[in-house]
Amino acid sequence: MGVFRTLDLDEVLERQKSGDLKRHLRGRDLIGFGVGIIIGTGIFTLAGVEAKTHAGPAVTLSFVIGAVVAALAALCYAELASSVPTAGSAYTYAFATLGEIFAWIIGWDLLLEFALGAAVVSRGWSGYLANLLGLPDDLFGESAPVNIGAVLIIAVLTVIAVAGIKESSRFTNILVLVKVAVCVLILVVGVFYIKAANLTPFIPAAQAPPGGTETLRQPLVQAALGLEQSVYGIGGMVTAAAIVFFAYTGFEALANLGEETKNPRKDLRVGILGALAICAVLYIGVSLVLTGMMPFQNIDTGAPLASAFDFVGQHWVSALISLGAVTGLTSVMMVELVTIGRIGFAMGRDGLLPKALGTVHPKWGTPHRMTILGAALIAILAALIPISQLSDMVSIGALSAMIIVAVAVPVLRRRRPDLKRPFTVPFSPVVPILAALACLYLMLNLDVLTWIRFAVWLALGLAIYFFYGRKHSRLAGK
Ligand code: ALA
Repeated sequence: MGVFRTLDLDEVLERQKSGDLKRHLRGRDLIGFGVGIIIGTGIFTLAGVEAKTHAGPAVTLSFVIGAVVAALAALCYAELASSVPTAGSAYTYAFATLGEIFAWIIGWDLLLEFALGAAVVSRGWSGYLANLLGLPDDLFGESAPVNIGAVLIIAVLTVIAVAGIKESSRFTNILVLVKVAVCVLILVVGVFYIKAANLTPFIPAAQAPPGGTETLRQPLVQAALGLEQSVYGIGGMVTAAAIVFFAYTGFEALANLGEETKNPRKDLRVGILGALAICAVLYIGVSLVLTGMMPFQNIDTGAPLASAFDFVGQHWVSALISLGAVTGLTSVMMVELVTIGRIGFAMGRDGLLPKALGTVHPKWGTPHRMTILGAALIAILAALIPISQLSDMVSIGALSAMIIVAVAVPVLRRRRPDLKRPFTVPFSPVVPILAALACLYLMLNLDVLTWIRFAVWLALGLAIYFFYGRKHSRLAGK
């Protein structure tokens, strides 16, 4: 009953050759999927919120820091994803390298990341829709006791996700184009309204938080070192980097599609790194334009990008941005739903979750049971809980999973030097170690409350593992 038992890698590779999932995606589909899931509330909402509350114009640098950390982690993902292309991605790599318990933790973290991510985004979507169409706030806004809009969008997208990956891929590709076009519009029009005065000083001086100090809301690293709580300055910029890391999460989803790509080795590499590069350029540009257009203290935290254009009198751009947010957020939720299905499928197939979840629909070829179960949970969360503060949970879930992925790279190289690796991380183990440390550093800059919530989630996961997964695992009794 060893918790460190590992999957046989050759069996994993063999299984994905004869896999049950259909193979019809290419590199460019993956870039579409990637941009579809990466660009979302992170840039549309959090960029403005963080400029105002933590970083000022230096939020642009926060996005640069986030991009560097995401790129380091993406290199590790790309190596593992190209050498072990399989559904369940990081979860399966950990299972084949570090052992079952790490695999469980990673799978559990990823479910947290994608479920909470989708719930946050569905509520944001509902709010933007209300804004666009003048719908009542008590049914569609943050003040709604039961958020109808969030439930409706999750229900519609679940039907599409269950109907088949090809349909979902076509659907997201169209939405992605709209979203990228909106970002380009912001850059092209916004650049004419940048005022140097708004960008000076670029890193505002550190100061005490305007709302007073509160230990639960203090970054863990500050609390642990007994420092005074502060915002802005270098510390504020790094805190903002940890929070806006949310904006880069999602690229890991691509690594789950390994069993559904035509040429997994090349397509995954192109998809992951390509999508991340496109998003990083757009984020850095858009946040610079946003903070250049208006004093950061005046940014509206509800719809920051749209209201910046209202501020300079360009109302037509503002309306187009709201429309783009509604469409853009749709594709984020779509890919998140598809991913939850794939991760649960892999965990069910290995017996760590009930086996019934690890089966695909005979006609549609999608892991329908897990997708529907995940969507139901997301809909309940999204309907009832005001999740505006929980994007931090998505960051912490993603960062912790990335640390395990980074560690798995050198471990797998040592255990299986013979494995064909179409993409290799340069300077291993230096780069994987740097990636793990960078992720850890960002995690430490998230607040104490987020760490407490994360610890509770992990404890719950470990309880399920010890009472269920360990006994029902495919490897139990071997
Ligand atoms: N990266 C996604 C977003 O920004 C989750 O919304």
